[in-house]
Amino acid sequence: MRLDKILANMGYGSRKEIKKICKNGMVRVDGVVAKDSSMHVDPSTQEIVIAGEVVHYREIVYLMMNKPQGVVSATEDLVDETVVDILDPEYYSFDVFPVGRLDKDTEGLLLLTNDGKLAHELLSPKKHVPKMYFARIEGRVTEEDAAKFKKGVTLDDGYTTLPAELNIISQGTISEIELTIYEGKFHQVKRMFQAVGKKVIFLKRLTMGNLSLDEELEPGEYRELTEEEIDLLRG
Ligand code: URA
Repeated sequence: MRLDKILANMGYGSRKEIKKICKNGMVRVDGVVAKDSSMHVDPSTQEIVIAGEVVHYREIVYLMMNKPQGVVSATEDLVDETVVDILDPEYYSFDVFPVGRLDKDTEGLLLLTNDGKLAHELLSPKKHVPKMYFARIEGRVTEEDAAKFKKGVTLDDGYTTLPAELNIISQGTISEIELTIYEGKFHQVKRMFQAVGKKVIFLKRLTMGNLSLDEELEPGEYRELTEEEIDLLRG
């Protein structure tokens, strides 16, 4: 791959700017000054150093975000800020997209990647990838609700959900629960509670498949997945 393309992909500047920094002798490939930015380099085997800093080339990136409220799960939006807008510019060139959607007012685990194959596998309705949510509910959530969710509830459009696991953390005028679902219909958690006459007032996703939200991440923060986490996601 051309050196200028590799560096441009990684956000080091336009090809013109990269041409300049190469001319200035700031770039080395395997220890040798690379004056010609059009030279071909294999980023997987050759070491590229810019101004003494090693360039870690990755074509595919995996980010775990604790999605904040008020931001939409899309790559572009005419009105609202998107989860891609809040990434550091170093990620812009990778064309990452969110794997699935969380509502604008939902927080929590959102995977962003440019790995279309993995995204497809995680989102395929046939795969039944489990997703666990924490929620605060207006009203007293009961074991009866848990039994209904276990059987499947009928949503407002007539669809009957797959069995889901409801774990009641606390019961009261406001209840706290964890719910694991194996599909991803539009507004699913909110509509499941609506089906038993209750209202979700706070929703946060905690897991997707084998991947859990890093509790150190504040809303709006994100980090790259570790190799182990990528393997976990692949199942
Ligand atoms: N269910 C919902 O209702 N909203 C979400 O954002 C995710 C699941």
